[in-house]
Formats: sequence, C-alpha cells, structure tokens
Amino acid sequence: MQSQNRNNINAVITAVGMYTPEKILDNKYFESIVETNDEWIVTRTGIKERRMMENGATSDMAAKACEDLFKTTNVKPEEIDVIIVATVTPDMFFPATACLVQEKIGAKNAWGFDLSAACSGFLFALQTGASLIQGGTYKKVLVVGSDKMSAITDYTDRNTCILFGDAASAVLLEPSTDSNYGIKDSMLFVDGSGKEALNMKAGGSALPASEDTVKQKLHYIFQDGKAVFKVAVKGMADVSYEIMQRNGLKSEDISYLVPHQANLRIIAATAERMGVSQDKVMINIDRYGNTTAATIPLCLTEYYRSGKVKKGDNLILAAFGAGYTWGALYLTWGID
Ligand code: UT7
Repeated sequence: MQSQNRNNINAVITAVGMYTPEKILDNKYFESIVETNDEWIVTRTGIKERRMMENGATSDMAAKACEDLFKTTNVKPEEIDVIIVATVTPDMFFPATACLVQEKIGAKNAWGFDLSAACSGFLFALQTGASLIQGGTYKKVLVVGSDKMSAITDYTDRNTCILFGDAASAVLLEPSTDSNYGIKDSMLFVDGSGKEALNMKAGGSALPASEDTVKQKLHYIFQDGKAVFKVAVKGMADVSYEIMQRNGLKSEDISYLVPHQANLRIIAATAERMGVSQDKVMINIDRYGNTTAATIPLCLTEYYRSGKVKKGDNLILAAFGAGYTWGALYLTWGID
C-alpha cells in the first residue's frame, strides 16, 4: 500500500547535515586492547575505523549536525516546527534529547521528542516526520539520528566493541506539491521476540541501576551476533525487495540502496536480493562503523555532498536493529 497522502502534500528532504567526532579508533587500536586483528574485523564486518566523542553527549553531536545543516539552507532555527531525535543513547532518560537539541540550536518555536528504534530509528523517525508534514499542520521538521555508542560499549568485549562508533546526522523535511519528489512509501516493522538477542539489560524500570548491575556489566550493549546476523540478512533483504515490488520498481529504476551500516555482508546480501549492483550501494561503514541511528542520514549527506546523488534519484533506505525493528523506505531525492 502506498503511504496515504490525502492532502497531496509531499514530504521532501530539503537539506542535510552531519557531525562526526575527530577522534579515530582504527582496527590497530583494538588489536592493542582485545584479542582481535584487523583481518578478522575487515573480513567479518567491513569496518576499518570508527569515531569516538570524547567531550560531550548525544545532544551535542545532534546539535552540531543541525548547525551543519543550517549552513546550507535559508531556513532559520526559529522556523523549525518539530525536532525528532532517533537515538538509543539519549543524554538522559528525561528530558528528551530533542529538548536539549532545541535549546542548543535555538529552535525556539519547536516541539519535539525522542524516538527509540535502535538501528531502524532514523527510518522510523523519517516516516513519522513525513506523516507530520503530509498531515498539513507542520512545515519544517528536523529528523536527526544521533548516537554516542561509545557511552554504552564495553571495551573489554571483543564481540561488540569493534562494531560501534559515534556520529550524528540530520535532515530537514518540508512540504511540496510536486509529487515527483519526496517520501513515497515505507514498510516498517517491530517484533519484540528479538529482545533477548540485542539489548542493554539494566538502567530501565525492569532492572534499575544498582551496584550489582554495574558489577555484572549490564549497562553495556549485549549482542548475540550470530542470531542477529541471520534475521538481519533476511529481514533487510526481504523488506527491500518487497518495497520495490509493491511500487513497481525494477533494479534499474533504483539509483541507490541506502542501507543501515552494521555489516558489509548484510549490506551485500540485501543488494543481491534487490538485483542492485555494488556501485549503487551507499557505504561508509569502513570509516564510521555502526553508528546506530546515524548511519543512513550520514550516508545520504556524504553521497549528496560528493555529487553522487542527484535530484530525481530513486533511493531505497533499509535498516534492521534491536527490538527487533526493521523496514525500508522509498523516496525520490529532491535537492538540486
Ligand atoms: O546494527 C544492529 C543489528 N546488528 C547487526 O546487524 C549485527 C549482526 N551480526 C554481525 O554483524 C556478526 O554476527 C558479527 C560481526 C557481530 C560477528 O560476526 P560472525 O561472523 O557472526 O562471528 P561469530 O559471532 O560467529 O564469531 C565467530 C568467531 C567466534 O570464535 P569461535 O567461537 O568460532 O572460536 C568469536 O569468538 O569469531 C570470534 N570473534 C572474534 N574474533 C576476533 C568474535 N569477535 C571477534 C573479534 N576478533 N573482534
């Protein structure tokens, strides 16, 4: 089913921005802190380096990504209606990171909220933002993916520490009556039966922080990599293929697959299922690792700024993450 658009208002990405911290952790660094090696990391994941935020939190990265975006548009922070921050590493449980970003960027007329959908967070937030625009009430929605994964990473656990990095990226959604551009369809899913395979066990209401939870290292990411890998390959490949089918898209109609950057092998399997060649797949996992909610907008920003994405290009965005959460979104790029 095509996403409902009763008002004939299309939600179009009109500006992009990003922030990546300066500090780089390369695979050599991980060789020095855990039992691993560059060859294992590169062949199993595709990651060569990732970034680490040394001073500051998720809202600082998000605000920097928004400020980077504002440099490229005439839109002023006070014109923003809504700020949605997709993150699993909020500065605090409350207030929402969106409130902190609102203050930092001076978006004095905005409301906003955080959206928790792990690695699918940006996709879910983008569809939510698009619906707010299509409803006709809101004209300028900032959708931000920001995660300081280093804050919840156990740097003694080789299964997870090599995978994650810190980054933020943002897009601005605005309405257009030109139906050629913008967000055209999405298929999004959650399945809570995945909760055991990828989670952070303590700190919430089920298991509040205590001396014991700290001792047991329950405030870090836990991942059963093999279990997640299997469902992620199938989930991302199937949904990407299905969204093509129901929109009558052939592989040659697609300019780029924009996949969540968790593992190069999952990305390759998704592209193969779609019949999309590797040169039509956005990839930056080698430089940033898995930055959770930031991976997809980071790819969009980098590829657009390097001139590889042009107005009219059809993109399929796809993600899979903790929950489980997963989905795909079809849009036509609308920035010159
Ligand atoms: O983004 C949210 C969703 N998450 C994902 O999509 C991640 C999905 N999972 C994955 O990407 C992969 O499962 C990993 C990259 C996490 C792991 O790759 P794998 O090929 O599934 O490896 P594995 O977990 O099956 O481990 C294979 C071996 C194990 O040793 P044994 O038991 O065979 O002796 C691990 O202990 O590799 C070992 N290993 C490592 N060796 C060197 C695990 N981590 C490392 C490491 N360096 N960093």
